[in-house]
Amino acid sequence: MADIRILVGSVYGGALMTAKAIKTALDADGHSVSVLENPTLDDITLNTSALLVCTSTTGQGEIPANLLPFYLALREQLPQQPGRPFGIIVLGDSSYGDTFCGAGELMEEALYETAARKVGETLRIDASETLEPEDEALPWVREWVSAL
Ligand SMILES: Cc1cc2nc3c(=O)[nH]c(=O)nc-3n(C[C@H](O)[C@H](O)[C@H](O)COP(=O)(O)O)c2cc1C
Repeated sequence: MADIRILVGSVYGGALMTAKAIKTALDADGHSVSVLENPTLDDITLNTSALLVCTSTTGQGEIPANLLPFYLALREQLPQQPGRPFGIIVLGDSSYGDTFCGAGELMEEALYETAARKVGETLRIDASETLEPEDEALPWVREWVSAL
């Protein structure tokens, strides 16, 4: 059974709803999941849980305001997390073209700089294609957990 911390970035609530649906599903499977709506560095440095980023993209490929302080602190302090597993679920809209799901790439780059280890391929959920992000997220996350 896995200990998982979900780092949420959300403007309109879609990514947050997705993270909560993941928690409900994985808790029911016997895992231990925390949903962090306003994460700080202490939320990751004081434990060794697997990290799951679940963020939308805002602005022009940017990270939502509730996750931005975490991202900036991570980039600035680079607390080393060698081998720590992480995964990325990113919500975006392909109509934004080049910046599609850009927030996921920013989070991935920052986590790689801490020497954390990515598990699975990034799940990109396109608002132009699906109205129910959790329908895509739940099957993906079950595979992700089994690969931890
Ligand atoms: C002002 C604004 C800017 C956005 N910018 C981007 C973007 O640059 N790239 C992208 O892929 N999606 C972009 N989106 C789409 C959102 O990421 C997408 O609708 C997502 O599902 C919203 O999730 P949320 O409800 O958690 O905020 C933008 C949406 C809005 C309203």
